[in-house]
Amino acid sequence: MATNQIRFDDGAAYERYMGAWSQLVGEKFLDWLAPRTSMRWLDVGCGNGAFTELVAQRCAPADIHGIDPSEAQLKFARGRAATSGATFHQGDAMALPFDSGQFDAAVMALVIFFVAEPARGVAEMARVVRPGGTVAAYAWDMLGGGFPFQPIRSELGALGQSLPQPPSPDASRIEILQELWAGARLEALETRDITVRRHFADFDDFWGASTAMGSMRATLDSMPANDLEQLKVRVRSHLTTDPAGGVSYQARANAIKGRVPTA
Ligand SMILES: C[S@@+](CC[C@H](N)C(=O)[O-])C[C@H]1O[C@@H](n2cnc3c(N)ncnc32)[C@H](O)[C@@H]1O
Repeated sequence: MATNQIRFDDGAAYERYMGAWSQLVGEKFLDWLAPRTSMRWLDVGCGNGAFTELVAQRCAPADIHGIDPSEAQLKFARGRAATSGATFHQGDAMALPFDSGQFDAAVMALVIFFVAEPARGVAEMARVVRPGGTVAAYAWDMLGGGFPFQPIRSELGALGQSLPQPPSPDASRIEILQELWAGARLEALETRDITVRRHFADFDDFWGASTAMGSMRATLDSMPANDLEQLKVRVRSHLTTDPAGGVSYQARANAIKGRVPTA
C-alpha cells in the first residue's frame, strides 16, 4: 500500500496532469459567473496559474492576485505570458495576507478539498472581498465519481492499491459547499455542476498525462509489472474510444457562488 502524499512540487507536471482539466471547467465556470470587466480578482490556491490565466484572458481584470503555498507551482504561474500582469504570493488560504474588503471577487479553483479547515478558507475569502462582491469555487465531485482520474483510483483500489486523498474530500459535495458558504454569511447562493470531456490522441497520451504527477507515479512505480498492465487494461475499459484511436473521459465538478452582504 503506497503511503505517499499529494505534493504540488512540479508546475509543468501539474500542467500536463491537471491544468487542461482545470481550464475546461474554468471556462464554463466563468461563463456562469458572468463577471463584469475591470474587477479586482483573488485566485486562492492559484497553483501553476491555470485558472489565473483564464481570468487574465477572458475577464479584462483591473488586477489579479494569486496565492498558493507551493513555490514550484508559483514559479510556473509567473512564467505564463498571459499572467504577466498578475501578482503571485506564497501563502495559505486560511490566513490571507490581504486587507479586508479589497477584492471584487475571490475564487478557489479545485482547491477547497486541499484546505485543512475549509470553513476558515471560505471565511477568509469572505473577509477580503468587498460588500456586494463575489466568493466562488469549483471542486471535482470527489465523492460522487467526478474526479478526472476516478477510473485509475477505482481500479487501483480493486488491485489493493490506493492513491493519497486530499485532506477535506467532503468539501467537494454540493451540500457541504452550501453549508460552508452559508456559514461565512454569504448571500444569494447558487450552485451547479459542470461536466467536461477531455480528449487525448490515444491511450498512451491519456496515460502519460494522467500519471504525470509525482504522487501518482510513486504509487504506480511501487506496483509489480503484471499488476500495472492489468491496471491499464481495466482503466482503458472506462474510456470512450473513437474510430481513429483517440480516447476521452468525462469529469464533473461542483460549483458555488455567493455574495458578501452589503449591510
Ligand atoms: C488542484 S491544485 C489547483 C490549482 C489551480 N487553482 C488550478 O485550477 O489548476 C490545488 C492547489 O491548492 C494548493 N493548496 C493546498 N493547500 C492550500 C492552502 N491551505 N491554501 C492555499 N492553497 C493550497 C496547492 O498547492 C495546489 O496548487
